[in-house]
Amino acid sequence: MILFKLVIIIFLLISLVGFLFTKKFLEIFCDLNSLYYKFGGIDAEFRIVSTKTTKISCLAGIIIFTLMFFYVDKNFNKNNLNTTNKEEIAVTETTNKENFDMQSVYEFLKKCETYYLATVENDQPRVRPFGTIDLFEDKLYIQTGKIKNVSKQMAQNPKIEICAFDGNTWIRIEATVVNDDRIEAKQHMLDNYPSLQKMYKADDNNTQVLYLKDATATFYSFTQEPKVVKF
Ligand SMILES: Cc1cc2nc3c(=O)[nH]c(=O)nc-3n(C[C@H](O)[C@H](O)[C@H](O)COP(=O)(O)O)c2cc1C
Repeated sequence: MILFKLVIIIFLLISLVGFLFTKKFLEIFCDLNSLYYKFGGIDAEFRIVSTKTTKISCLAGIIIFTLMFFYVDKNFNKNNLNTTNKEEIAVTETTNKENFDMQSVYEFLKKCETYYLATVENDQPRVRPFGTIDLFEDKLYIQTGKIKNVSKQMAQNPKIEICAFDGNTWIRIEATVVNDDRIEAKQHMLDNYPSLQKMYKADDNNTQVLYLKDATATFYSFTQEPKVVKF
């Protein structure tokens, strides 16, 4: 796309030079044609155009290439926005909201894709990457397997902490997790994570979903005051 813009700029400059220095432009043009003529090319006379026609052509070129440049530029920016900036804006919108709520927390974790879940094992903190997050019946759920140590640690001590960072803002959530053994809660989670369906089934006796209770989520950044959400 940048190359395309560069080509348009080159044509625009040629049109501009042609318009501003028509006489010189024609001289060069005619000289070139004489050269062609010398080497048996097309007739030079045939290629000579009037100053007026050249000026009009160059002006048309300026208009067309300027329009093309802005059209390409606009679409280029729009495409870029669709891919990278859109996500950044969505996160900024989330974190700039006046009223922070559980939805903001959900959206932020979803955007981050990976968060870090800390549990306690006796007097030892344990932390690992997690990705599952689901909003079901107005509660924020995470998912794991009962066979995992993380599950056993949460059963022993349901206090957890979550941390995630989007490159600008980071969140820390302290909460107590509550196991929800209902099939519909598990199915809702699995429906939202089709990739998990290869490993987990709602009724496999391993899949576990837990919701966050008495949660305090704090959004932090280097430039803004921390924002606290309780749910
Ligand atoms: C990006 C990423 C996301 C993950 N998300 C989850 C998840 O949502 N639930 C889960 O049980 N394991 C998830 N895992 C795997 C756990 O981190 C892994 O099983 C870990 O060892 C569990 O902790 P534990 O060893 O203390 O049981 C994820 C791993 C990665 C790399």
